[in-house]
Amino acid sequence: MSKRNNIILIGFMGSGKTTFGKWIAANKKMEFVDTDELIEKENGITISDIFASKGEVYFRNLETDMLNKLLERDTQNCVISVGGGLPVKEENRELLSQLGTVVYLWADADELVKRLSGDNTRPLLAGGNLKEKINTLMDARKEIYDSVSDIKIDTKDIAFNDMFSQMEEFLQ
Ligand code: S3P
Repeated sequence: MSKRNNIILIGFMGSGKTTFGKWIAANKKMEFVDTDELIEKENGITISDIFASKGEVYFRNLETDMLNKLLERDTQNCVISVGGGLPVKEENRELLSQLGTVVYLWADADELVKRLSGDNTRPLLAGGNLKEKINTLMDARKEIYDSVSDIKIDTKDIAFNDMFSQMEEFLQ
């Protein structure tokens, strides 16, 4: 199956998927879609409550359902931000590559700590030492992010315009 003309943003929590995705949508006349937001809306429950009441595996399956729905709805010309752990499931990686060009937003652990401290919306980072949690999860995920992405962008100290130029260079 050939790739769609969507841009999919993947990366760790705090890598800027939602803010950069909204910027692209506003500046490049694309529609913005966020899988976490869609899952919350369609299920009438927050991500934190899904984790608390049904667990992570159940949530990963909701993510798979959402990717299938986006493919079935013939989603085109969208910038799609996906939850940081979505690519961890192999089936999701397969669906991502059908859905469009996969852009990996990267930041190192120190930068992520700065961006995520004080946040209480991400159940996988709740309690304990934030940097340790980030390092452990990042170690488990970094090869996955690398393997599923078409392009990787370092998001530290760079303007969205310049991030977009890097993407465009790749897309040409
Ligand atoms: C998760 C990332 C979150 C959300 C959920 C799990 C993860 O999305 O899907 O809390 O496993 O990394 P963001 O990456 O948008 O924060």
